Amino acid sequence: MPSSVMPTSSQGDGQASPAAISAVGLRKSYGDTTVLDGIDLRIPAGSVFALLGPNGAGKTTAVKILSTLIAADGGQAQVAGHDVATSPDGVRAAIGVTGQFSAVDGLITGEENMLLMADLHHLSKSDGRRVTAELLERFDLVEAAKKPVSTYSGGMKRRLDIAMTLVGNPRIIFLDEPTTGLDPRSRHNMWGIIRELVSDGVTVFLTTQYLEEADELADRIAVLTDGKIAAEGSADELKRMIPGGHLRLRFSDPAAYQSAATALREVTRDDEALSLQIPSDGSQRELRSILDWLDAAGIEADELTVHTPDLDDVFFALTSTTMVPSQPKEDAR
Ligand SMILES: Nc1ncnc2c1ncn2[C@@H]1O[C@H](COP(=O)(O)OP(=O)(O)OP(=O)(O)O)[C@@H](O)[C@H]1O
Ligand SMILES: [Mg+2]
Repeated sequence: MPSSVMPTSSQGDGQASPAAISAVGLRKSYGDTTVLDGIDLRIPAGSVFALLGPNGAGKTTAVKILSTLIAADGGQAQVAGHDVATSPDGVRAAIGVTGQFSAVDGLITGEENMLLMADLHHLSKSDGRRVTAELLERFDLVEAAKKPVSTYSGGMKRRLDIAMTLVGNPRIIFLDEPTTGLDPRSRHNMWGIIRELVSDGVTVFLTTQYLEEADELADRIAVLTDGKIAAEGSADELKRMIPGGHLRLRFSDPAAYQSAATALREVTRDDEALSLQIPSDGSQRELRSILDWLDAAGIEADELTVHTPDLDDVFFALTSTTMVPSQPKEDAR
Protein backbone atom coordinates (compact mmCIF):
# COMPACT_ATOMS: atom_id res chain seq x y z
CA MET A 1 0.00 0.00 0.00
CA PRO A 2 1.12 3.56 -0.61
CA SER A 3 1.83 4.14 3.03
CA SER A 4 5.27 5.51 2.30
CA VAL A 5 4.01 8.58 0.52
CA MET A 6 4.08 10.81 3.55
CA PRO A 7 7.20 12.38 5.00
CA THR A 8 9.11 10.17 7.40
CA SER A 9 7.37 9.91 10.73
CA SER A 10 8.61 11.72 13.82
CA GLN A 11 12.24 11.01 14.54
CA GLY A 12 12.16 10.81 18.29
CA ASP A 13 13.60 14.16 19.31
CA GLY A 14 10.22 15.69 18.54
CA GLN A 15 11.89 19.00 17.76
CA ALA A 16 11.37 19.24 14.05
CA SER A 17 8.89 16.47 13.45
CA PRO A 18 7.56 16.94 9.94
CA ALA A 19 4.04 18.17 9.49
CA ALA A 20 1.63 15.50 8.28
CA ILE A 21 -0.96 18.19 7.65
CA SER A 22 -0.38 21.88 7.24
CA ALA A 23 -2.52 24.73 6.04
CA VAL A 24 -2.10 28.45 5.61
CA GLY A 25 -4.95 30.90 5.21
CA LEU A 26 -7.59 28.35 4.21
CA ARG A 27 -10.81 30.03 3.15
CA LYS A 28 -14.19 28.72 2.13
CA SER A 29 -17.54 30.44 1.63
CA TYR A 30 -20.93 29.23 0.59
CA GLY A 31 -22.74 32.14 -1.03
CA ASP A 32 -22.60 34.99 1.46
CA THR A 33 -21.65 32.72 4.32
CA THR A 34 -17.97 32.65 5.14
CA VAL A 35 -17.33 29.28 6.72
CA LEU A 36 -13.54 29.30 6.94
CA ASP A 37 -12.02 32.75 7.17
CA GLY A 38 -8.30 32.02 7.02
CA ILE A 39 -7.30 28.88 8.89
CA ASP A 40 -3.70 27.95 9.68
CA LEU A 41 -2.79 24.46 10.82
CA ARG A 42 0.35 22.49 11.49
CA ILE A 43 -0.12 18.93 12.64
CA PRO A 44 3.04 16.93 13.34
CA ALA A 45 3.23 13.38 12.00
CA GLY A 46 2.19 10.79 14.53
CA SER A 47 0.07 13.13 16.63
CA VAL A 48 -3.64 13.50 17.29
CA PHE A 49 -5.24 16.81 16.45
CA ALA A 50 -8.79 17.59 17.54
CA LEU A 51 -10.89 20.25 15.90
CA LEU A 52 -13.68 21.44 18.13
CA GLY A 53 -16.41 23.87 17.33
CA PRO A 54 -20.14 24.38 17.60
CA ASN A 55 -22.53 22.98 15.01
CA GLY A 56 -21.98 24.69 11.69
CA ALA A 57 -18.55 26.05 12.63
CA GLY A 58 -16.96 24.46 9.58
CA LYS A 59 -15.30 21.33 10.98
CA THR A 60 -16.62 19.02 8.29
CA THR A 61 -15.79 21.66 5.68
CA ALA A 62 -12.18 21.68 6.88
CA VAL A 63 -12.04 17.87 6.77
CA LYS A 64 -13.49 17.86 3.26
CA ILE A 65 -10.95 20.39 2.00
CA LEU A 66 -7.98 18.60 3.56
CA SER A 67 -9.16 15.24 2.22
CA THR A 68 -9.65 16.74 -1.27
CA LEU A 69 -13.42 16.16 -1.37
CA ILE A 70 -14.02 19.87 -1.99
CA ALA A 71 -11.77 22.73 -3.03
CA ALA A 72 -10.91 25.70 -0.85
CA ASP A 73 -11.58 29.21 -2.16
CA GLY A 74 -8.21 30.42 -0.95
CA GLY A 75 -5.12 29.49 0.98
CA GLN A 76 -2.95 26.42 0.75
CA ALA A 77 -2.86 23.03 2.36
CA GLN A 78 -0.46 20.15 2.26
CA VAL A 79 -1.26 16.65 3.41
CA ALA A 80 1.42 13.95 3.48
CA GLY A 81 3.66 16.32 1.58
CA HIS A 82 1.19 16.82 -1.26
CA ASP A 83 -0.67 19.97 -2.11
CA VAL A 84 -4.41 19.31 -1.88
CA ALA A 85 -5.11 21.50 -4.93
CA THR A 86 -2.35 20.40 -7.28
CA SER A 87 -1.71 16.83 -6.14
CA PRO A 88 -5.00 15.47 -4.85
CA ASP A 89 -4.13 11.90 -5.92
CA GLY A 90 -1.01 11.96 -3.77
CA VAL A 91 -3.08 13.12 -0.83
CA ARG A 92 -5.74 10.48 -1.42
CA ALA A 93 -3.19 7.70 -1.56
CA ALA A 94 -1.96 8.56 1.91
CA ILE A 95 -5.16 9.21 3.81
CA GLY A 96 -8.23 7.49 5.13
CA VAL A 97 -11.43 9.39 5.79
CA THR A 98 -14.37 8.48 7.96
CA GLY A 99 -17.06 11.01 7.21
CA GLN A 100 -19.56 12.37 9.69
CA PHE A 101 -22.31 10.34 8.10
CA SER A 102 -21.98 6.66 7.39
CA ALA A 103 -20.72 5.70 3.96
CA VAL A 104 -21.42 1.99 4.22
CA ASP A 105 -23.75 0.19 1.83
CA GLY A 106 -26.71 -1.12 3.77
CA LEU A 107 -27.79 -3.73 1.26
CA ILE A 108 -24.68 -5.87 1.48
CA THR A 109 -23.06 -7.43 4.53
CA GLY A 110 -20.36 -5.88 6.68
CA GLU A 111 -17.85 -8.35 5.34
CA GLU A 112 -18.80 -7.58 1.74
CA ASN A 113 -18.37 -3.85 2.43
CA MET A 114 -14.90 -4.56 3.76
CA LEU A 115 -13.93 -6.75 0.80
CA LEU A 116 -15.19 -4.10 -1.59
CA MET A 117 -12.92 -1.62 0.14
CA ALA A 118 -10.00 -4.04 -0.15
CA ASP A 119 -10.69 -4.27 -3.90
CA LEU A 120 -10.72 -0.49 -4.17
CA HIS A 121 -7.29 -0.50 -2.57
CA HIS A 122 -6.10 -3.16 -5.06
CA LEU A 123 -5.35 -5.70 -2.36
CA SER A 124 -5.01 -9.27 -3.60
CA LYS A 125 -7.92 -11.59 -2.79
CA SER A 126 -6.01 -13.29 0.00
CA ASP A 127 -4.69 -10.03 1.49
CA GLY A 128 -8.19 -8.58 1.27
CA ARG A 129 -9.62 -11.55 3.18
CA ARG A 130 -6.87 -11.42 5.79
CA VAL A 131 -7.18 -7.67 6.42
CA THR A 132 -10.97 -7.93 6.49
CA ALA A 133 -10.89 -10.74 9.04
CA GLU A 134 -8.41 -8.86 11.24
CA LEU A 135 -10.39 -5.65 11.20
CA LEU A 136 -13.76 -7.32 11.79
CA GLU A 137 -12.23 -9.00 14.82
CA ARG A 138 -10.65 -5.79 16.07
CA PHE A 139 -13.92 -3.88 15.78
CA ASP A 140 -15.99 -6.61 17.39
CA LEU A 141 -17.97 -7.25 14.22
CA VAL A 142 -17.27 -10.94 13.64
CA GLU A 143 -20.74 -12.05 14.60
CA ALA A 144 -22.41 -9.38 12.50
CA ALA A 145 -20.09 -9.82 9.52
CA LYS A 146 -22.46 -11.97 7.47
CA LYS A 147 -25.55 -9.86 8.06
CA PRO A 148 -26.72 -6.99 5.86
CA VAL A 149 -25.54 -3.65 7.23
CA SER A 150 -29.13 -2.36 7.15
CA THR A 151 -29.72 -4.56 10.22
CA TYR A 152 -26.81 -2.99 12.18
CA SER A 153 -27.25 -0.58 15.05
CA GLY A 154 -25.86 2.95 14.68
CA GLY A 155 -22.80 2.08 16.72
CA MET A 156 -22.09 -1.04 14.67
CA LYS A 157 -22.31 0.99 11.45
CA ARG A 158 -19.92 3.51 12.91
CA ARG A 159 -17.42 0.80 13.81
CA LEU A 160 -17.71 -0.70 10.33
CA ASP A 161 -17.16 2.77 8.85
CA ILE A 162 -13.89 3.14 10.68
CA ALA A 163 -12.81 -0.43 9.98
CA MET A 164 -13.33 0.31 6.27
CA THR A 165 -11.18 3.43 6.59
CA LEU A 166 -8.32 1.30 7.90
CA VAL A 167 -8.35 -1.26 5.08
CA GLY A 168 -5.81 0.68 3.04
CA ASN A 169 -3.49 1.10 6.04
CA PRO A 170 -3.50 4.90 5.72
CA ARG A 171 -0.82 6.91 7.53
CA ILE A 172 -3.09 9.90 8.03
CA ILE A 173 -6.68 9.47 9.12
CA PHE A 174 -9.50 11.97 9.22
CA LEU A 175 -12.26 11.03 11.62
CA ASP A 176 -15.24 13.37 11.51
CA GLU A 177 -17.04 12.82 14.82
CA PRO A 178 -15.94 9.18 15.15
CA THR A 179 -17.82 8.45 18.34
CA THR A 180 -21.07 10.35 17.87
CA GLY A 181 -23.88 7.98 18.71
CA LEU A 182 -21.67 5.37 20.36
CA ASP A 183 -22.47 4.10 23.84
CA PRO A 184 -19.85 4.77 26.53
CA ARG A 185 -18.24 1.34 26.22
CA SER A 186 -17.99 1.53 22.43
CA ARG A 187 -16.63 5.05 22.77
CA HIS A 188 -13.90 3.86 25.10
CA ASN A 189 -13.11 1.01 22.70
CA MET A 190 -12.85 3.52 19.88
CA TRP A 191 -10.46 5.63 21.95
CA GLY A 192 -8.35 2.54 22.48
CA ILE A 193 -8.26 1.90 18.74
CA ILE A 194 -7.30 5.50 18.03
CA ARG A 195 -4.50 5.29 20.59
CA GLU A 196 -3.23 2.08 18.98
CA LEU A 197 -3.17 3.75 15.59
CA VAL A 198 -1.21 6.64 17.01
CA SER A 199 1.28 4.34 18.66
CA ASP A 200 1.84 2.84 15.19
CA GLY A 201 2.76 6.33 14.01
CA VAL A 202 -0.51 7.21 12.32
CA THR A 203 -1.55 10.87 12.35
CA VAL A 204 -5.16 11.44 13.39
CA PHE A 205 -7.21 14.51 12.55
CA LEU A 206 -10.40 14.28 14.50
CA THR A 207 -13.45 16.43 14.96
CA THR A 208 -15.64 15.94 17.94
CA GLN A 209 -18.45 17.41 19.97
CA TYR A 210 -17.15 15.63 23.04
CA LEU A 211 -14.67 17.79 24.81
CA GLU A 212 -13.78 14.89 27.03
CA GLU A 213 -12.75 13.01 23.92
CA ALA A 214 -10.41 15.78 22.81
CA ASP A 215 -9.05 15.91 26.34
CA GLU A 216 -8.42 12.15 26.34
CA LEU A 217 -6.92 11.76 22.90
CA ALA A 218 -5.55 14.91 21.43
CA ASP A 219 -2.04 16.28 21.61
CA ARG A 220 -3.29 19.57 20.23
CA ILE A 221 -6.78 20.97 20.19
CA ALA A 222 -8.11 23.85 18.14
CA VAL A 223 -11.40 25.59 18.72
CA LEU A 224 -13.03 26.76 15.50
CA THR A 225 -15.61 29.48 15.74
CA ASP A 226 -16.76 32.31 13.49
CA GLY A 227 -14.56 31.01 10.71
CA LYS A 228 -11.35 31.32 12.72
CA ILE A 229 -9.31 29.25 15.12
CA ALA A 230 -10.14 31.01 18.38
CA ALA A 231 -7.57 29.08 20.39
CA GLU A 232 -5.11 26.27 19.92
CA GLY A 233 -3.03 24.30 22.35
CA SER A 234 -2.86 21.23 24.52
CA ALA A 235 -5.87 20.56 26.73
CA ASP A 236 -3.95 21.97 29.71
CA GLU A 237 -2.89 25.08 27.85
CA LEU A 238 -6.47 25.75 26.82
CA LYS A 239 -7.76 25.23 30.34
CA ARG A 240 -5.24 27.70 31.67
CA MET A 241 -6.55 30.34 29.29
CA ILE A 242 -9.73 30.76 31.22
CA PRO A 243 -10.26 31.35 34.89
CA GLY A 244 -13.00 28.90 35.64
CA GLY A 245 -12.31 27.38 39.04
CA HIS A 246 -14.95 27.89 41.67
CA LEU A 247 -16.66 26.46 44.68
CA ARG A 248 -20.36 25.96 44.69
CA LEU A 249 -22.38 26.06 47.86
CA ARG A 250 -25.95 24.85 47.83
CA PHE A 251 -28.50 25.54 50.52
CA SER A 252 -31.95 24.21 51.26
CA ASP A 253 -32.65 26.86 53.89
CA PRO A 254 -33.39 30.21 52.18
CA ALA A 255 -32.33 32.13 55.32
CA ALA A 256 -28.92 30.45 55.39
CA TYR A 257 -28.58 31.12 51.68
CA GLN A 258 -29.39 34.81 52.14
CA SER A 259 -26.98 35.34 54.97
CA ALA A 260 -24.18 33.59 53.13
CA ALA A 261 -24.95 35.53 49.94
CA THR A 262 -24.79 38.88 51.68
CA ALA A 263 -21.76 38.04 53.79
CA LEU A 264 -19.53 36.53 51.16
CA ARG A 265 -17.79 38.83 48.76
CA GLU A 266 -17.30 38.00 45.10
CA VAL A 267 -20.11 35.51 44.85
CA THR A 268 -22.34 34.74 41.93
CA ARG A 269 -25.85 34.10 43.15
CA ASP A 270 -28.39 31.70 41.80
CA ASP A 271 -31.49 32.66 43.75
CA GLU A 272 -33.64 29.95 42.24
CA ALA A 273 -31.30 27.08 43.00
CA LEU A 274 -30.24 28.65 46.32
CA SER A 275 -26.65 28.22 45.30
CA LEU A 276 -23.60 30.43 45.42
CA GLN A 277 -20.50 30.29 43.32
CA ILE A 278 -17.20 31.54 44.71
CA PRO A 279 -14.12 31.94 42.52
CA SER A 280 -11.41 29.57 43.73
CA ASP A 281 -8.36 27.79 42.45
CA GLY A 282 -9.53 24.69 44.28
CA SER A 283 -6.41 24.57 46.44
CA GLN A 284 -6.52 23.02 49.90
CA ARG A 285 -5.55 26.31 51.49
CA GLU A 286 -8.36 28.23 49.83
CA LEU A 287 -10.92 25.54 50.60
CA ARG A 288 -9.90 25.55 54.23
CA SER A 289 -10.19 29.31 54.52
CA ILE A 290 -13.66 29.31 53.00
CA LEU A 291 -14.79 26.45 55.25
CA ASP A 292 -13.31 28.19 58.32
CA TRP A 293 -15.10 31.33 57.37
CA LEU A 294 -18.43 29.53 56.97
CA ASP A 295 -17.94 27.82 60.34
CA ALA A 296 -17.10 31.10 62.03
CA ALA A 297 -20.20 32.72 60.58
CA GLY A 298 -22.30 29.74 61.68
CA ILE A 299 -23.42 29.05 58.13
CA GLU A 300 -24.02 25.51 57.03
CA ALA A 301 -24.32 24.67 53.37
CA ASP A 302 -26.04 21.47 52.32
CA GLU A 303 -23.62 20.74 49.56
CA LEU A 304 -20.20 21.94 48.60
CA THR A 305 -18.65 21.10 45.26
CA VAL A 306 -15.31 22.10 43.80
CA HIS A 307 -15.21 22.90 40.11
CA THR A 308 -11.93 23.11 38.21
CA PRO A 309 -12.09 24.36 34.64
CA ASP A 310 -12.51 21.68 32.04
CA LEU A 311 -12.61 21.80 28.28
CA ASP A 312 -16.35 22.44 28.42
CA ASP A 313 -15.60 25.75 30.12
CA VAL A 314 -13.02 26.56 27.48
CA PHE A 315 -15.48 25.70 24.77
CA PHE A 316 -18.24 27.85 26.22
CA ALA A 317 -15.91 30.75 26.90
CA LEU A 318 -14.44 30.71 23.42
CA THR A 319 -17.54 30.02 21.40
CA SER A 320 -19.88 32.34 23.23
CA THR A 321 -20.65 35.39 21.12
CA THR A 322 -20.47 37.76 24.08
CA MET A 323 -17.03 36.82 25.33
CA VAL A 324 -13.49 36.96 24.07
CA PRO A 325 -10.78 34.57 25.24
CA SER A 326 -9.01 37.01 27.55
CA GLN A 327 -12.10 37.91 29.54
CA PRO A 328 -12.98 36.09 32.71
CA LYS A 329 -16.10 34.00 32.61
CA GLU A 330 -19.09 35.48 34.33
CA ASP A 331 -20.86 32.25 34.83
CA ALA A 332 -19.14 28.93 34.53
CA ARG A 333 -21.74 26.33 33.88
N1 LIG B 1 -22.69 22.27 0.31
C1 LIG B 1 -23.01 23.31 1.09
N2 LIG B 1 -23.73 24.34 0.59
C2 LIG B 1 -24.05 25.41 1.34
N3 LIG B 1 -23.70 25.56 2.63
C3 LIG B 1 -22.97 24.57 3.19
C4 LIG B 1 -22.60 23.40 2.45
N4 LIG B 1 -21.88 22.61 3.26
C5 LIG B 1 -21.82 23.24 4.44
N5 LIG B 1 -22.46 24.42 4.40
C6 LIG B 1 -22.58 25.38 5.51
O1 LIG B 1 -21.27 25.61 6.01
C7 LIG B 1 -21.32 25.76 7.42
C8 LIG B 1 -20.35 24.80 8.06
O2 LIG B 1 -20.81 23.48 7.88
P1 LIG B 1 -19.99 22.23 8.42
O3 LIG B 1 -20.75 21.02 8.02
O4 LIG B 1 -18.58 22.35 7.98
O5 LIG B 1 -20.07 22.47 10.00
P2 LIG B 1 -19.63 21.51 11.19
O6 LIG B 1 -18.71 22.31 12.06
O7 LIG B 1 -19.12 20.23 10.66
O8 LIG B 1 -21.00 21.29 11.96
P3 LIG B 1 -21.58 20.01 12.77
O9 LIG B 1 -21.01 20.10 14.14
O10 LIG B 1 -23.04 20.25 12.78
O11 LIG B 1 -21.18 18.78 12.02
C9 LIG B 1 -22.77 25.59 7.83
O12 LIG B 1 -23.34 26.85 7.96
C10 LIG B 1 -23.37 24.84 6.67
O13 LIG B 1 -24.72 25.17 6.53
MG1 LIG C 1 -19.68 18.29 10.82
